[in-house]
Amino acid sequence: MPKYAHIIGWGKYVPPNVLTNDDLAKTVDTTDKWIREMTGIHQRHIASSKESTAALAVYAARDAIESADVNPQDIDMIIVATASPEYPFPATACLVQNAIGAGRAGAFDLEAGCSGFVYALSMAAGLIRGEMYNTILIVGAETLSRLVDWNDRATCVLFGDGAGAVVLRGSETPGGVMSSVLGADGSGGELLIVPGGGSKSPSGPETVLSKMHFIKMNGREVYRFATRVMATAAKQAVERAGWALDKIDLFIPHQANKRIIDSAAKSLNLPPEKVFVNLENYGNTSAASIPIALCEAISGGRIKPGDHLVMVGFGAGLTWASCAIEWTAPKPGAIPLPRAATSRLRYAWSGFKSFGWQVSRHVDALVSRVIDTVERKEQ
Ligand code: UT7
Repeated sequence: MPKYAHIIGWGKYVPPNVLTNDDLAKTVDTTDKWIREMTGIHQRHIASSKESTAALAVYAARDAIESADVNPQDIDMIIVATASPEYPFPATACLVQNAIGAGRAGAFDLEAGCSGFVYALSMAAGLIRGEMYNTILIVGAETLSRLVDWNDRATCVLFGDGAGAVVLRGSETPGGVMSSVLGADGSGGELLIVPGGGSKSPSGPETVLSKMHFIKMNGREVYRFATRVMATAAKQAVERAGWALDKIDLFIPHQANKRIIDSAAKSLNLPPEKVFVNLENYGNTSAASIPIALCEAISGGRIKPGDHLVMVGFGAGLTWASCAIEWTAPKPGAIPLPRAATSRLRYAWSGFKSFGWQVSRHVDALVSRVIDTVERKEQ
């Protein structure tokens, strides 16, 4: 029997701190009117200094795990899609694995810019359909505010922070992720780039002074690329799923710019009620934008079992990714209180265990060093 990969849980987290267009207009030469008209964005959420990418990812992951009603020990793999990881290494996914107590899970980060979440969803669905793994947690998490030059009005008005997550599980029931299309055009890599801090230009006083650790973007070219690729990638995913375009019940695009979304919707002949947009509240949260939008579409009653969804991302790389999903999860209910309480206990316990492992690793290292010293003295 073929295996299908179904989304069985979802969750999101956005930092409470909101930065409006008017707030921005106080520090850079811009206006609320320009930002609204050119992008559709009204405000964005900005992480505090205590809210790192891993912290946002963990909140969203816990939500997704609770709504899926799975034990973290049952998770086989964790993929975190991010362009703003906690560290160059270890992977943010490993930090999530530790925080949620998913002791059996492998974990890695996936970097495909704003297409990262759909890339990860496609990879995870492939692993499930190939029967390598059965339960996979996918998180899109970003703190792009840390990479933004707050004096560059061309970019600082666009981005926001947040995280979204889903749990994917294998089943023989048809449905779930039915097709995906992944693409890249590395020739456009310099159009959207953080040039400093990598192996070409390692961080140092020079890279910082020349602002190479900030996002640089050729907005007009990225815009042209996005309008070209969005509808095409959506059509390809629909075709691969064996659907017709009019079968789409909800289109969930990457939330970068309302004008880009409108142009894609027009090419796909989709009326506004079949297109999900929430960028006015969050700005462009990169790899987190599609899972955050998915969560809000579900909680807003825009998705019901049997619906046909299409997601499309595009971004740095340049990359693009689309997928067609037949929605099979039942309508969400509130998480029953006893389960929320047991989850808190479970996370507290896994935090305690993780601390215990760290202590035991230190003690182990200390004891080994003492034994080595004694042995060396005896020789
Ligand atoms: O996930 C992928 C991430 N990237 C994107 O999705 C970006 C895609 N690109 C875009 O969304 C658009 O290119 C923008 C909204 C960023 C800019 O729109 P545009 O029509 O491409 O404008 P532009 O960059 O060509 O700039 C037009 C004018 C310029 O002024 P002059 O030279 O005509 O006098 C800019 O300096 O708008 C000016 N401008 C601004 N004015 C007020 C640029 N940014 C701002 C601003 N406020 N924030």
